[in-house]
Amino acid sequence: MKMISRRDFLKASAVVGASAALTACGSSSSSTAASTAASTAASTNAAASGSANIGVCIYQFADNFMTLYRTDLDEYLKDMGYNVTIVDGKNDQNTQTEQINTFLQQGVDVLVINPVQTTSAQTIVDTISPSGTPIVFINREPAKEVLDSYPEKCCYVGADARQSGTYQGELILETETKGDLNGDGKVTYIMCKGDPENIDAQYRTEYSIKALTDAGMEVECLYEYLDNWDQTLAQQDVANALAQYGDQIEVVFCNNDAMAMGALQSIEQAGRTVGKDIYLVGVDALAEAVQAVIDGRLTGTVLNDDVNQATAAAEATKLYVEGQPVEQYYWVDYVKVTPENAANYL
Ligand code: BGC
Repeated sequence: MKMISRRDFLKASAVVGASAALTACGSSSSSTAASTAASTAASTNAAASGSANIGVCIYQFADNFMTLYRTDLDEYLKDMGYNVTIVDGKNDQNTQTEQINTFLQQGVDVLVINPVQTTSAQTIVDTISPSGTPIVFINREPAKEVLDSYPEKCCYVGADARQSGTYQGELILETETKGDLNGDGKVTYIMCKGDPENIDAQYRTEYSIKALTDAGMEVECLYEYLDNWDQTLAQQDVANALAQYGDQIEVVFCNNDAMAMGALQSIEQAGRTVGKDIYLVGVDALAEAVQAVIDGRLTGTVLNDDVNQATAAAEATKLYVEGQPVEQYYWVDYVKVTPENAANYL
């Protein structure tokens, strides 16, 4: 049997996924004939020249998942014939705001924005809206009121983080002991959390545990660590947790794979064995995490589908450039990654 790479596998499903995402969302189409005509006129220049200038603001280049995402996005937008400039917000909202202002001065046709602070999304929209430049928000979901404040010109492409949290809980429920390794009738865990103001971090923290309690499991949280999506911080905190709580810890939940990889280092250094005397789950399906699932060193992870999200973001950008109607939301599904299907996601 011929093996195909993770990217090819996701790209193959991207054709279906993206078109589904771009047509299936939104019960009410947000565009009216009048506004469509207006945005068509606004983008005539770009469309007529057969190209467009796209400015992409990433919250931080030093983020493993966003590195995958921006590489895909760069490729897809360039394949569409656009001039693409991608800038690094360096995890600093002021830096990103300056970058947005520079893009506006240059007169870009569409802005794709991964905000540093989701709470700054309204200010970002207020800065951009006088120019009429359309915005595709990605990865960090702004409040609905923010999207509503710039109708027809602003959308969000993302994944519902509740689903990823639920899948993490299910990965634990699918283990032999349902997470209760010591058989004391409850699942005792620690949680490594991402950026606390990020909805992905909040929902993954909540829904992973909800999946357990919905299934009738009793749970006990020993500690929630604020590790800001960061591998090194998680490694240190999990080392400390293992020293403090020892065998009491049955499950280590991590809001993303970077933190799960940090946790894994500390777990192995402490002489514990994933799958035997502790469970560990992440989210993203980074290559090293998928390899760890295959090798039995990670209980499971959840695919955060960069390929389909980048495809949907590029498609939404194209719709704006061409002056076609754009929905307010485009959602891409997460996928549970287990030892059985992991090879597809390498
Ligand atoms: C990913 C994290 C990433 C974050 C950036 C999340 O969806 O799972 O790995 O750090 O997005 O905003």
